[in-house]
Amino acid sequence: MTSYSRITGTGSYLPPRRVTNDDLAKQLAERGIETSDQWIIERTGIRARHFVDDGVNSSDLALEASRKALESAGRVADDVDLIIVATSTPDMVFPSSAAILQHKLGVAGCPAFDVQAVCSGFVYALTVADAMIRTGTARCALVVGAEVFSRILDFNDRTTCVLFGDGAGAVILEASDEPGILASDLHADGKHVGILCVPGHVSGGEVLGKPLLHMDGQAVFKLAVRVLEEAARTTLAKAGRTEADIDWLIPHQANIRIMEGTAKKLKMSLDKLIVTVHEHGNTSAASIPLALDEAVRSGKVKKGDTVMLEGVGGGFTWGAVLLDL
Ligand SMILES: CC(C)(COP(=O)(O)OP(=O)(O)OC[C@H]1O[C@@H](n2cnc3c(N)ncnc32)[C@H](O)[C@@H]1OP(=O)(O)O)[C@@H](O)C(=O)NCCC(=O)NCCS
Repeated sequence: MTSYSRITGTGSYLPPRRVTNDDLAKQLAERGIETSDQWIIERTGIRARHFVDDGVNSSDLALEASRKALESAGRVADDVDLIIVATSTPDMVFPSSAAILQHKLGVAGCPAFDVQAVCSGFVYALTVADAMIRTGTARCALVVGAEVFSRILDFNDRTTCVLFGDGAGAVILEASDEPGILASDLHADGKHVGILCVPGHVSGGEVLGKPLLHMDGQAVFKLAVRVLEEAARTTLAKAGRTEADIDWLIPHQANIRIMEGTAKKLKMSLDKLIVTVHEHGNTSAASIPLALDEAVRSGKVKKGDTVMLEGVGGGFTWGAVLLDL
């Protein structure tokens, strides 16, 4: 039996169309809606986000990120024996984006499924993959977060449409005698379903309800800061570590104020906070692996570093994963 699972490669992909706050403000002005670069930066830290073009789906973004992760791990798609995609914007109602990704990678046979935990999706997926590796069900997992949130944004609602973006991030997680993932901690509380949701569904060939993102920003903000601190502390306790052991904090990239608030509560220097929200916006399940990959490729986060990943999102869901890279 394997003792640990370890990340051996990372990859990410952003669709080429970069939309700045000014671009978005111009588009919204055409609808008679007012916003500004200054408001968005001050309240969120976001300067730009990337949006897909028509016809590009989550599995397409996932494919590009997966190829890069495989390359950085020195693996090929045939080596992968488990595929998990975290997404709330799948290509279809079914089959899963993971099954579609598997086919696009040119392989078949290994289990492939999606995890739906909104912006906590990647920490959920990583925890599931870790458990499957440690119980011997898999040895080389491809774990992806991929989203096309631009498809579910209400561009008549300035309080939400300025916050999100599209993208994908991926890791290869392999069986290892060395740590690895040290501990994780996952939670959900469905009573908060109404504060962040896309309240639509398919029925009899029609979409019923309003399949566009709805959010009570202030309620989400308060909840997020509280649960991110709790999840980090619980995960550290499970691993027998302290805040001082964390080299890098990579929280879900939703809002710079939430991220800095979490770092401060953990008494961590802001220099240890990985920030990509300014260029990516909130890419939901993709945000953590995108930030991790950028931090690894820039040389900031190195092999041997201890990294805390933290997700929070609709459900409400939240969780953290502590790992040695
Ligand atoms: C959404 C969020 C940025 C709003 O910031 P806020 O400081 O709470 O702002 P408020 O909602 O109080 O709105 C303040 C004012 O700005 C206005 N406003 C909202 N969006 C605006 C925009 N895009 N441009 C300009 N003004 C805007 C509001 O209408 C309000 O105006 P009013 O005072 O005249 O009523 C903030 O609540 C937030 O980040 N929440 C968490 C969201 C999140 O992270 N979600 C994902 C979690 S997974």
